[in-house]
Amino acid sequence: MEVMMRKAATGGQRRPGGALLGAALLLLLGFFQAASSIHFEVKDENNKTCIMADLSINFSVEYETVSKKVIPALFLLSEKALVNKNSSTCGKENISAPLLAIQFGDQQLRMNFTRNGLRYQVAELVFIYDLSDKVLFPDASDNGTKEVSSQNTDISANNNSTYKCSNPHLIKMGKVNATFHNIKIEAFVTNNTYSLKETACSEDVTPTVAPTPAPITPKPTVLPTPLPPPSVGQYSVTGPSGMCILAKMGLQLNISYSKKDNKDDLYVFNIDPKDTHYNGTCQNASATLSLSSNKTNLEFQFALNTSTNQFYLARVTLNTTLPSEAKDPNVQVANGSLMYLKTTARKSYRCNAKQTLQITSNFSINTFELQVQAFDVVGEKFGSAVECQLDENGMLVPIVVGAALAGLVLIVLIAYLIGRKRSHAGYQTI
Ligand SMILES: *[C@@H]1O[C@H](CO)[C@@H](O)[C@H](O)[C@H]1NC(C)=O
Ligand SMILES: *[C@@H]1O[C@H](CO)[C@@H](O)[C@H](O)[C@H]1NC(C)=O
Ligand SMILES: *[C@@H]1O[C@H](CO)[C@@H](O)[C@H](O)[C@H]1NC(C)=O
Ligand SMILES: *[C@@H]1O[C@H](CO)[C@@H](O)[C@H](O)[C@H]1NC(C)=O
Ligand SMILES: *[C@@H]1O[C@H](CO)[C@@H](O)[C@H](O)[C@H]1NC(C)=O
Ligand SMILES: *[C@@H]1O[C@H](CO)[C@@H](O)[C@H](O)[C@H]1NC(C)=O
Ligand SMILES: *[C@@H]1O[C@H](CO)[C@@H](O)[C@H](O)[C@H]1NC(C)=O
Ligand SMILES: *[C@@H]1O[C@H](CO)[C@@H](O)[C@H](O)[C@H]1NC(C)=O
Repeated sequence: MEVMMRKAATGGQRRPGGALLGAALLLLLGFFQAASSIHFEVKDENNKTCIMADLSINFSVEYETVSKKVIPALFLLSEKALVNKNSSTCGKENISAPLLAIQFGDQQLRMNFTRNGLRYQVAELVFIYDLSDKVLFPDASDNGTKEVSSQNTDISANNNSTYKCSNPHLIKMGKVNATFHNIKIEAFVTNNTYSLKETACSEDVTPTVAPTPAPITPKPTVLPTPLPPPSVGQYSVTGPSGMCILAKMGLQLNISYSKKDNKDDLYVFNIDPKDTHYNGTCQNASATLSLSSNKTNLEFQFALNTSTNQFYLARVTLNTTLPSEAKDPNVQVANGSLMYLKTTARKSYRCNAKQTLQITSNFSINTFELQVQAFDVVGEKFGSAVECQLDENGMLVPIVVGAALAGLVLIVLIAYLIGRKRSHAGYQTI
């Protein structure tokens, strides 16, 4: 998980590997997760079981990093979690309530059970976590122990039955979201084992009444207001031997991502030059421009092919944070096999029209009023501009229209001249 976390810029080349490793780790975790829930049991002094639970929990804990960013730590109930025997108890009828305390690392999850009438429930869920756990909370600004709780767990079952919930069941506790899934719980166990009778959670209950056909809701007539085009920023990078990047462009990023409910969505936003810092590096055959704002780091790397004497955009790296409904809000993507904006050295590439640079299948950049030049920027000014195809196509329309108009004028003129000659001839006959 930590490899997916946003890190300060490190060697760009290592990122795809890290992301791949992260993806592999996540897959592996997901695999184990799907394979089994973790079993817990609380017994009394006579070895009689009073609480049984099989749990899988995904935690998402928001915390602040040293760089004052609030990010979520995402982790699962660890495979190594154990019943904390000192804190757990079967309780005493009418005196104290049964409690299941689960320990994993410095983290503790407590479930307090009560019963009234014909049902029992988790009356309170408490989660205690330690921000000094640098594996779960890298770069946390605080290193204290935090305690959050909820008395609104909605985990409740009929007396003498097993509570069962396969679908995700979210319990919010302050900055902690605990998503329980594939769980079985029973408190006040009578036979040292789960009851055969089950109480399903509301998430698992499929309505038995024939589902009324979904009303045909008219498509919302208010379309999402399209984002205005981005403001055009001016950027330059200068190295020991002069300016190596000069750029003028409006940038709009388009990222597709999965939400927590597994629906796909697009996150489209503009880079605002007013809130963007930039810097970069100049090398003989590589020049980079890094743009960073509050939550986004975007890096362009240009390469120079000395044999063809052309420069091109070779690599784009993006780090950003998605809207909070994203399954994984941290985005880290890079593609180093690009060949965009290819231009002869000492010339500039210009594209006033909106142009889309597809970086990966999930990430594209829309550029507006772009003009760039990399490597030799003689006199810190753009060299002669090479227009993009889009602009040339755009120019074709006015040319065609202009030519058509000119043709029309010519026809009218000829018609007029002929007409004049005819009428002149007419006069002569009289
Ligand atoms: C829990 O996390 C795992 C691994 O990150 C993921 O595969 C799974 O879909 C998550 N489940 C829920 C219910 O969020
Ligand atoms: C409880 O059971 C464990 C093994 O399951 C056994 O080692 C222990 O002696 C038992 N304790 C009592 C009090 O019966
Ligand atoms: C729970 O149900 C059992 C029978 O199913 C009953 O004997 C017991 O009294 C009930 N307990 C409570 C607290 O209602
Ligand atoms: C973290 O804990 C150490 C030792 O307990 C303490 O010296 C340090 O000031 C703490 N740092 C923060 C950021 O709270
Ligand atoms: C964003 O990208 C998606 C495809 O991934 C595309 O359908 C959509 O039109 C794009 N939106 C903008 C504003 O570029
Ligand atoms: C970069 O170019 C300079 C001047 O042309 C040259 O002295 C230097 O060796 C080059 N560096 C590399 C790594 O090619
Ligand atoms: C430069 O371009 C040529 C021709 O496209 C290509 O064969 C060569 O591999 C390129 N060199 C580099 C360093 O990219
Ligand atoms: C990187 O860009 C190249 C060229 O556009 C494309 O073929 C390749 O699929 C991209 N790689 C990824 C990981 O998206």
